[in-house]
Amino acid sequence: MFKPLLMFLLLSFFPLYSQYKVIIDTDPGIDDAVAILLAFQSPEIEVIGLTSTFGNHDIDVTTKNCQILLELAEKKIPIAKGFKGPLVIPKRPNPDFVHGRDGLGNLFLEPNQKEGNYEDADSFIIRSILENPKEITFIGLGPLTNLASALLKEPKIASLVKEVIVFAGAIYYPGNCNPLAEANVWSDPHAADIVFSSGLPLTTICLNASKKPQLTKQILNEIERANPKIGVFLNQINQFYIDFYLSQNPSLEGANIHDSLTIAYLLNKDLFSWVEGPICVVKEGIAEGATLMDTSSSNEFSPWNERPKVRACIDCKEKEVVALMVERLSSTS
Ligand code: RIB
Ligand code: CA
Repeated sequence: MFKPLLMFLLLSFFPLYSQYKVIIDTDPGIDDAVAILLAFQSPEIEVIGLTSTFGNHDIDVTTKNCQILLELAEKKIPIAKGFKGPLVIPKRPNPDFVHGRDGLGNLFLEPNQKEGNYEDADSFIIRSILENPKEITFIGLGPLTNLASALLKEPKIASLVKEVIVFAGAIYYPGNCNPLAEANVWSDPHAADIVFSSGLPLTTICLNASKKPQLTKQILNEIERANPKIGVFLNQINQFYIDFYLSQNPSLEGANIHDSLTIAYLLNKDLFSWVEGPICVVKEGIAEGATLMDTSSSNEFSPWNERPKVRACIDCKEKEVVALMVERLSSTS
């Protein structure tokens, strides 16, 4: 009687502190870097480790970039090193034209700690979830290879993870790698299909939702003035990223923030709207990487019938999302 009451009172007075124990699986990547710092700047979130993946660059570079981010944020948490390529298909070329030749806007930074004794990412994911049943939130910001491998090795994690939020896919909306495929799914369609069919408590944030919120040079200047410790870095890495977006579409004001939407969703689901349904990933051919959702529960022979429903976010309140990001990234407390 006394204990629950005490818990209730504590939670009422300190609702913001470490509500979520989070693993971030990531391929930094400029928008990944913003998302990771956003998580570090959010008192509700305790990041227990970063798992690196290939994607925006080779695995050695994305792992090094994870180390750079930990040192910048003065966080002493483990990095576990992930797969160097997809499960089945050959690795795609690195998108240097989006994230730079170093994955972080061509600043060519070096971490103080050069090499680590890294645990494998899939083992870290399995171990963390088994040791903390129903407590871990998994955030996926890159190709879904590490998570798919963890599911293949230990299917029990599907029912023991608290929540999985990934940036992946486009639901009947133009892709950014081919007319239908989003980059994280296109980079490893087989892995994405394993994750989408696994029965995990899964939300995917799609390109449909990330088209509107933009990070502009003006916003980055504002963040830099308020919180130079991370703001200078954010401003510098994003110059390259924003210039890429403006070169693609001069009517934009800045760059799409993709990966940060996973953190914004974790913090406030009211900022998003979604559809739900089973998703099949196209694994080969002209539409490789397309995420096809059955929204109509079609005939009894449909390959979608066997699959669990996935929540796919297709829109967000962009002003509120950007305001949340600015508030968190500007905070020095
Ligand atoms: O499609 C956007 C996603 O792919 C993001 O995760 C971004 O980092 C890119 O690589
Ligand atoms: Ca990413």
